[in-house]
Amino acid sequence: MQEIRDAIMSGERTAEAFGSLQLPETFRAITVHKDEVDMFADRASRDKNPQESLHLDDVPIPELGPGEALVAVMASAVNYNTVWTSIFEPVPTFGFLERYAKLSPWAKRHDLPYHIVGSDLSGVVLRTGPGVHLWQPGQECVAHCLSVELEHHDGHSDTMLDPEQRIWGFETNFGGLAELAIVKANQLMPKPAHLTWEEAACPGLVNSTAYRQLISKNGAGMKLGDRVLIWGASGGLGSYATQMCLAGGGTPICVVSSPEKAEICRKMGAELVLDRREGGYHFWNEENTKQNPKEWRRFGADIRKLTGGSDIDIVFEHPGRETFGASVFVTRKGGIITTCASTSGYMHEYDNRYLWMNLKRIISSHFANYREAWEANSLIKRGLIHPTLSKAYPLEETGQAALDVHKNAHQGKVGVLCLAPEEGLGVTNPEMREELLPSINRFRNI
Ligand SMILES: NC(=O)c1ccc[n+]([C@@H]2O[C@H](COP(=O)([O-])OP(=O)(O)OC[C@H]3O[C@@H](n4cnc5c(N)ncnc54)[C@H](OP(=O)(O)O)[C@@H]3O)[C@@H](O)[C@H]2O)c1
Repeated sequence: MQEIRDAIMSGERTAEAFGSLQLPETFRAITVHKDEVDMFADRASRDKNPQESLHLDDVPIPELGPGEALVAVMASAVNYNTVWTSIFEPVPTFGFLERYAKLSPWAKRHDLPYHIVGSDLSGVVLRTGPGVHLWQPGQECVAHCLSVELEHHDGHSDTMLDPEQRIWGFETNFGGLAELAIVKANQLMPKPAHLTWEEAACPGLVNSTAYRQLISKNGAGMKLGDRVLIWGASGGLGSYATQMCLAGGGTPICVVSSPEKAEICRKMGAELVLDRREGGYHFWNEENTKQNPKEWRRFGADIRKLTGGSDIDIVFEHPGRETFGASVFVTRKGGIITTCASTSGYMHEYDNRYLWMNLKRIISSHFANYREAWEANSLIKRGLIHPTLSKAYPLEETGQAALDVHKNAHQGKVGVLCLAPEEGLGVTNPEMREELLPSINRFRNI
């Protein structure tokens, strides 16, 4: 692996040189093990520790299939899906791999007793499989995490609707938290030249998701002037939704849970921030069985105090059960609640009278199609949206990185260095970086 790392660091990236690099027999990867899926059976979710279930293993390099690329991963990032995989909730991810395996002999490779996790990467293409023309060994890349087959017509206008749609590194094997990863070549996108490896690796999944959910016509289709309530505004999804809202001429109303996180939102440029801890909202009773509309009203009144009396045009939802009733309530007549997740529980409850009588709409969103992921990466590449990386761990400490996210002890994105020996490497357009440095630092220091 040292030879590959050295070749990347040397900066000389001809297809011939990279194509002839000797591949090692094995590579190091972060895995969960199939024979351990019951290890946390007697524990509450919050007590399940990713450090116990995530392993750093030496694994063999799988054969490269048609249309695929083998990538030397310089850096990756922790997404919440790695937390779900590592605590085996809501279901162990091995079921996804078993079902995928039934599709074809190539898909069968994914059904292993271990699952290599991770849905983000920045790195360099090492090999391409048969039928790949656009990408060559030696090219720098990032990868989005949409894996589709596109044989079925359902996915032809919106690739997220492909019946064989999967999230790479969550519903497929050979993910990005490793020294090598396998992706479909059409997941590859150019690495933003002004960013380091760890900065370039961290936006992928959340930036694309926020783009579809908030900006795309497939999501809320935000327009100039919209007031957007953003839950977890300093977190993974939220820190990109906040940036997009500001860049698109909207007004973010950021919800966070500490003065430090409120400060992060202000640093990003948001003026209207609510600390939900300070507000002490109890949307549910103690037993978590019944909601309290009075608390929705109090929350709505606090929002109006911030906005000068206006209600919310779009709610950017992902906490789920705990907040969804309040989100539906505080949306203006004719407004949109757009949801992509249910961190606090997926059995949502809301008062439907507030929805139908006020012609509000709930719009579901999930990752992003090929085009949306490409457009979201272009925003990063052009320096219009910036990585919100707060910390980068070495590959060996991925368990701690995932624990930080599980415990909500992180800010923005948590990165992982894979083949990159240290932070700060990989910038190939120093002039652009210099020009953008004040903005890059404003978002990175969060
Ligand atoms: N469908 C998709 O394609 C997709 C893509 C990405 C992520 N997701 C899902 O979206 C969720 C968030 O992901 P992320 O990367 O943004 O995670 P994250 O970095 O942990 O940020 C989420 C933030 O939400 C806030 N939050 C958590 N629980 C809450 C609760 N009960 N009530 C109110 N706020 C709460 C927290 O902020 P404060 O403590 O500051 O309020 C937290 O920092 C996860 O469930 C993830 O699996 C789905």
